[in-house]
Amino acid sequence: MKHEFFEKNSMVLLVGILIVVSIGGLIEIAPLFFLGSTIEKVQGMRPYSPLELAGRDIYIREGCYNCHSQMIRSLRDEVERYGHYSLAAESMYDHPFQWGSKRTGPDLARVGGKYSDAWHVDHMKAPREVVPASVMPGYPFLATRQVDANDIADRMGALKLAGVPYNDEMIEKAKVDLIAQTQPDSKEAKGVLERYPKAQVRKFDGNPEGPATEMDALIAYLQMLGTLVDFTKFDAAGPNLR
Ligand code: HEC
Repeated sequence: MKHEFFEKNSMVLLVGILIVVSIGGLIEIAPLFFLGSTIEKVQGMRPYSPLELAGRDIYIREGCYNCHSQMIRSLRDEVERYGHYSLAAESMYDHPFQWGSKRTGPDLARVGGKYSDAWHVDHMKAPREVVPASVMPGYPFLATRQVDANDIADRMGALKLAGVPYNDEMIEKAKVDLIAQTQPDSKEAKGVLERYPKAQVRKFDGNPEGPATEMDALIAYLQMLGTLVDFTKFDAAGPNLR
């Protein structure tokens, strides 16, 4: 009865447990040190534009993550409903990530381009006008509140500290870019596209004459979700870049 010795000497048992757990831990953790990255290489992923970032902050402020996930699992029913399963690379610039843990409403990881801006405006103002059985609350006030552009540069600076590759030019032009993304005819709009490829430059809230609203920011964010990575150049099975 060798293990009787362990069972009767708690200190020996403790040391035994530590040794066994460390071996298990090392086997799990050590391989990670030899991998170049645990995030797959993809093309197209970029930091959020100032307007998208402001929209994301509103998404967090309003607690949308309490009802919506942004993480499509690699299960057949999810992939058929929502599209390609989410990649680690797609949330590498998200601090904090918005994977969520509850789906009272559908997953939003690839909602970009699924509906028109006008649909989103109507739905945000009064969800039941669009989807009669919806339990989503309305957010009509977003359409009248001007988006706060004053601290956007600081927010980007903070994300830079966390590792998001915003450069000095992006931070310097943050406030201008935020407004310019809602003004497709302005001369600054070109700069937005240069700094943030694939950014959608237009007035999102259906009120072309008005100032940039929180509705503009939130819809710019929603319309971008899931649209950045180029899946024609991604192959999960083979070398990551075809
Ligand atoms: C109380 C839970 C709840 C909250 C909070 C909530 N939603 Fe929803 N959302 C739902 C439900 C349920 C649906 C499905 C019915 C519908 O379309 O209204 C939905 C649908 C949606 C859709 C359409 C998705 C699709 O693929 O059809 C979008 C976009 C959306 N919500 C965005 C948001 C945003 C942005 C916020 C925060 C401002 C938010 N929701 C807050 C419950 C919620």
